Amino acid sequence: MAKAVFVAVSLLLSFLGGHALEDLSPTAFPPPPPMVHCCCSSYPKVARCSWPEPTHSSPVHYIATYRETNQPLANNTYQVIPPVASSSVLDPASSQQMWHFQLPNLKLFTDYIVNITAVYPSNSHSSHLSSFMLEDIVKPDPPVDLRVSPKVRSVLLEWSPPLTWDNLDIFPLKYQIRFQWNIRGKPKFVNIGPFETTSAELRELRTGRPYVVQVCAQELLGLGECSEWSEAVNVTIPKVKL
Ligand SMILES: *[C@@H]1O[C@H](CO)[C@@H](O)[C@H](O)[C@H]1NC(C)=O
Ligand SMILES: *[C@@H]1O[C@H](CO)[C@@H](O)[C@H](O)[C@H]1NC(C)=O
Ligand SMILES: *[C@@H]1O[C@H](CO)[C@@H](O)[C@H](O)[C@H]1NC(C)=O
Repeated sequence: MAKAVFVAVSLLLSFLGGHALEDLSPTAFPPPPPMVHCCCSSYPKVARCSWPEPTHSSPVHYIATYRETNQPLANNTYQVIPPVASSSVLDPASSQQMWHFQLPNLKLFTDYIVNITAVYPSNSHSSHLSSFMLEDIVKPDPPVDLRVSPKVRSVLLEWSPPLTWDNLDIFPLKYQIRFQWNIRGKPKFVNIGPFETTSAELRELRTGRPYVVQVCAQELLGLGECSEWSEAVNVTIPKVKL
């Protein structure tokens, strides 16, 4: 009898393999903290932390708290938005499903600590702490509606500011333009700017060479960083016959 049980267990173990055994006991290892990234896409109003839906073990829920760095422990917990409810807000880099936490009423030039805790079915939990000042995490959404009009020896670029940047009058944006091309299969690029307008006429491009053009937007005084690059547009200045 005992021998039969032993054989059955051995068979089961060899069937599962070492890797599967780890999966059977998730509490044996601390679960990973959420990979949180916080940014402010409309200074000074909208700050948001987001993190990808985990691919392996799904946590039951998240707890989000924040406080000013020099204040006592946070008392309130806030609602986090699951990926399903916000499927329109995909991470542009990876199109991954993202969780979101919108931070209300942040003060300017103030240090904050955000604590996003993943609570797993086994009741184990794992926290990610971020600390930042709103001014350091400013990152507009990319400019939209980039258009190129090739001229005789130049090209006119026009674009529109990101629609999500609410206070364009008080906090204007500046822009960088990136040109990419290939020389014998090797990618090259050059960034030019900043431009404080939403158009630029460029005369430096080589005629007959195909370029890929993109634009990014940054707060005019240089708060935070430039947005992700906009959608790309191709342009080739025609060769002029003399
Ligand atoms: C925390 O919450 C309790 C009950 O909701 C409240 O009585 C207390 O004043 C709060 N503390 C802080 C520091 O906000
Ligand atoms: C983060 O939040 C979790 C859940 O509320 C809490 O257990 C943990 O102590 C917090 N961590 C810090 C450093 O405040
Ligand atoms: C733009 O050019 C790239 C190669 O340089 C090409 O892969 C892409 O399909 C082009 N896009 C359009 C819209 O023509």
